[in-house]
Parts: sequence; structure tokens; C-alpha cells
Amino acid sequence: MMASTSFSPDKPFVYQHSGMHPELQKLLESNFNMVQPGQVEEYRDKIAAIFCFVTPPVREELIASFPNLKVVGNSAVGYEHVDVKACFARGVRVGYTPNVLNAATADMGWALLLATARLLVDGDKIARDPNTKEIDLNRFGFQVSGTTVGIIGMGRIGLEFAKRAMGFNVKLLYHNRHPCTKEIEESVNATFVSKLEDVLRQSDFVVLVAPSTPETYHMMSGPQFKAMKKTGIFVNIARGKLVNQDSLVAALRDGTIAGAGLDVTDPEPLPRDHPLLTLHNVTITPHTGSATLHTRTGMVQMTIGNIWAALRGQDMLNEVNNIVL
Ligand code: DGY
Repeated sequence: MMASTSFSPDKPFVYQHSGMHPELQKLLESNFNMVQPGQVEEYRDKIAAIFCFVTPPVREELIASFPNLKVVGNSAVGYEHVDVKACFARGVRVGYTPNVLNAATADMGWALLLATARLLVDGDKIARDPNTKEIDLNRFGFQVSGTTVGIIGMGRIGLEFAKRAMGFNVKLLYHNRHPCTKEIEESVNATFVSKLEDVLRQSDFVVLVAPSTPETYHMMSGPQFKAMKKTGIFVNIARGKLVNQDSLVAALRDGTIAGAGLDVTDPEPLPRDHPLLTLHNVTITPHTGSATLHTRTGMVQMTIGNIWAALRGQDMLNEVNNIVL
């Protein structure tokens, strides 16, 4: 993290819990005095906000350590890493950043789906390998166009993923707690399937886009992978905790499913000796669903707006306020 050189008495003091790209850092510093971990002792009493991203977690101990804290500005749509209960117990408001990352995350879902299906990472290695003398014409990936794709979680990002399916001429199924409106279904030509297992059974590609909640914890486990086709490919752009990773490893090893594309794991990063990192039929990226400068700028701008709104006692653009304590 870059340390601020000089603080202005007119700007609010914000504790920076996550490191940021230099351009985003500039944006933050043009609004606030950004206090780095090494400077906390000096400014503890002045700190009115915490700025954070998906990591590291914002725990009760941290929240309680700032006596004048008013708001946590979470620069992410997922906020399970913020102890929201501890915030609410102290009257600390929590902002988050839905919508602005929908497109980038949906793009990433398709990137992982295509890369895994068409053996992209492996192909890149073969193409660069100094020992590659001739092309293996019989090295096949999996067809994407014209297949069946099942989306688990048809929220904002799921819908954006669905919109991109049109060009691939796939049959689109989705599973969600509640069906979408007919209008939405028709706009993306998607069919609601009430039972998760039925989507898994019918789909060539299963894309997980549900939020991380106690209800979705390990929703993809042994029986769910067994329900998938042997040629099925599983893609996760949601959260690692939705998947029982031991079951996923077993399913990938014994051919229960054909492959997986994962932007998220549990934990992140995986321990360097984790079996998922050794499997040739897995594509893994380091939680980069929203990682474009365009999208991250939008997320930081929204977070800045949320922090200002809370400090001025106004409505935030996006506030976490639907938690039943
Ligand atoms: C989020 O905002 O929750 C994303 O996972 C970050 O990319």
C-alpha cells in the first residue's frame, strides 16, 4: 500500500484495509485521508470509515478498535468478509457495490467456460513448449455452441451471463430460489428449473453465480457433482465456500465430471500443495471476475459515494440493510 504523504484537515480519515492499484489509490486520496495500517495508532480517534475489498476480512476486533467509526465502505458486491453484525451493533453502516461489476464478472464466467472447454491453458503450454515439433490433430476439447448451459443463481450477474449466451446458440436453463419474471426469461430465452439436480442432469455446462450465504454453503457437493453429466464442465464465479472442494477434487479425478473453471476457491489463494492445482482438467484464476481497471474504478467510485453519504447522514447508493439480526 502507498502511504499518504500529507493529510488535509478538511478530509475525512479513512482506514485502508486493502491495497489498491495506483490509479484507484489516487481516486481515494483525492477524497479522503487514507490511513495505512502502519499509521493507525496516530489517527485511530479520527478514523470515520474503513475502506475494504474482498480480502482481508473486516473482523469485529478491527471494527471495535475505531471509537469514531461511522461506516465500512466495502468495494465489492459480496460482503461476507465484513462482520456486518458487529457493525450494526455499533451503529456502523455498511456500503457495498452491486451492479457495476456485473458485465466484467459475466465476461469472466464465459472466459472460464470457454477456456476449460477448449483446453486453452493446456493449448497455450503446448504451443510454447520448445519440445513441440508437430501439432496433435486429435487433441479435442468440448463443443460449446449448441449445447445446454445451466445457470445456478439468476441474479444480476447470472442474468448478464445469460445475455451473452445468445451468440452461442445454447439451450439455457436456470435454477434460482424464485423464478424470474416471464419478461426476463423471454429476454434471454432461459427456462426455470425448480430442482437443482434437474439442471445439473441436463446441462453440459453448469455455472455457479449464487451469493455466499449459510444456505448456499457447500451447495455443490458429492451428490450434485454425481448428478452432472460425465462430460459436464463446472464453472464457479461466485464464492469458493459454495463448493465442497474435496468432492470437487474427487469428481474431477475419477471422471464424475470432465472439468472445472474456477475464479474462486476456499481459501484464496489455495495452499500451494492443494490437489486442485495439480489437475489438468481445471482452469483456475485468482478471483479476477471484476479485475479490469474500468470496473474496479466504478466499484471504488461507488464506495467513495457510499462513504460520503454515510458521513453526511444521507442515503447510500447501496447499503447493506437487509440483515435480520
Ligand atoms: C465482489 O465484488 O464480491 C467480487 O467477488 C470482487 O470481484
